[in-house]
Amino acid sequence: MLNFTVITLFPDMFTSLLDHSILKKAQEKNLIAVGLVDLRDYTTDRHHVTDDYPYGGGQGMVMKPEPLVAAVEDIRSKFNSARVVLLSPHGRVFNQQHAARLAQEKELVLICGRYEGVDERVKSFIDEELSIGDYTLSGGEPAANVVIDAVARLIPGVLGNENSAADESFSNGLLEYPQYTRPEDFRGLRVPEVLRSGDHQRIKQWRREMSLRLTRERRPDLLAKASLSREEGNRLLTVESRVYVALLHYPVYDKNGQVVTSAVTNMDIHDIARSGKTYGIRGFYVVTPVKALQKLALKIIEHWEEGYGSQYNITRKEALALARIRDVLDDVLIDIERECGEKPRIVATTARPGGNRTSFPELRDMLLKRTQPCLILFGTGWGLTETIISQSDYVLQAIQGPTDYNHLSVRSAAAIVLDRLLGRP
Ligand SMILES: C[S@@+](CC[C@H](N)C(=O)[O-])C[C@H]1O[C@@H](n2cnc3c(N)ncnc32)[C@H](O)[C@@H]1O
Repeated sequence: MLNFTVITLFPDMFTSLLDHSILKKAQEKNLIAVGLVDLRDYTTDRHHVTDDYPYGGGQGMVMKPEPLVAAVEDIRSKFNSARVVLLSPHGRVFNQQHAARLAQEKELVLICGRYEGVDERVKSFIDEELSIGDYTLSGGEPAANVVIDAVARLIPGVLGNENSAADESFSNGLLEYPQYTRPEDFRGLRVPEVLRSGDHQRIKQWRREMSLRLTRERRPDLLAKASLSREEGNRLLTVESRVYVALLHYPVYDKNGQVVTSAVTNMDIHDIARSGKTYGIRGFYVVTPVKALQKLALKIIEHWEEGYGSQYNITRKEALALARIRDVLDDVLIDIERECGEKPRIVATTARPGGNRTSFPELRDMLLKRTQPCLILFGTGWGLTETIISQSDYVLQAIQGPTDYNHLSVRSAAAIVLDRLLGRP
């Protein structure tokens, strides 16, 4: 049983919250009790004054220390183990850990300020200050309501199902997964298939995955403290592990603007693989539909992965292990979707000038905030065709030096792009 005592100028502000639903039942079951103390009962003057002008001048009134401290002392004399909390914007920001800690108490006293707040000296008579967020309320009553609600539901027996508190947002340091109920189809929005599958293992995995993704997207600050498996940590915490690069040999332009298949080169494969490894990307695709060129690419890769080269230069072997050969872009997309569980966002690169481009800082920011994998396309020859560019989700701004000369090799461009997106200062 946790006994809350609230010191307030407005006891009626609590009745509606306490007379309904879970908190009402918790009181009926004697799991919590809430005593409302009217601060005016601790005044000694005829007019029951609880506030006065601020020393030093300024707006508004300040709550006098005498009635507040008299109320605290009276409550402590009855419940000597009481923990006294002042609701205040100066306090530590209340969160699930604070709620869990306070739920262990037997007696909790919540003081609600009003006006411009309480006389500073009151703080010498309390145990801690808590704020419910970075905004100013007109009084501590809504904040005390929040604390009572969040603490009470963690007391065993208060929630019908003991597990429901354990699953919820914040309890494991993550936001909770999305919930659905009937109907299965609401205005064309369908409940995800996995939740209707009856396969509990898949449902569990899906929920964990959604919980991780939501937290990554909306509250990345929580992830650092959440308990994650090593695999989850790697996948979520590092941006680069969601980045793929594809070097397209078809369809690309030749110097006359014709769509052609370009030749595979030893240097491009080596250098992009080495840049990819340096910046920690997940995979590097060499894309050509020409079987003879695929064979050549494979020979280059295998030489360093398995042949003489693998003994001769171990670091080159590590880099080339990133390389994968595929016929067409669609195969790359299927591959990534299989590996990551979702389609990548496609980022096209081009040296050609043009409007509506995504800047490097914008893309860097997006990579940080979203968990979706990202595939960066580089074109060989005279660059990616308009068809490929129009299929992409973003077109990255062209790399620009201080001169008009703009003929970087694709392997240099790849290194610069990776550095701008993933490099450390
Ligand atoms: C208008 S506020 C006083 C604000 C104070 N002058 C300041 O700027 O920090 C009046 C009372 O509302 C309560 N309060 C306001 N914002 C709060 C918050 N974010 N969390 C907890 N209590 C809050 C406190 O009890 C406070 O004493």
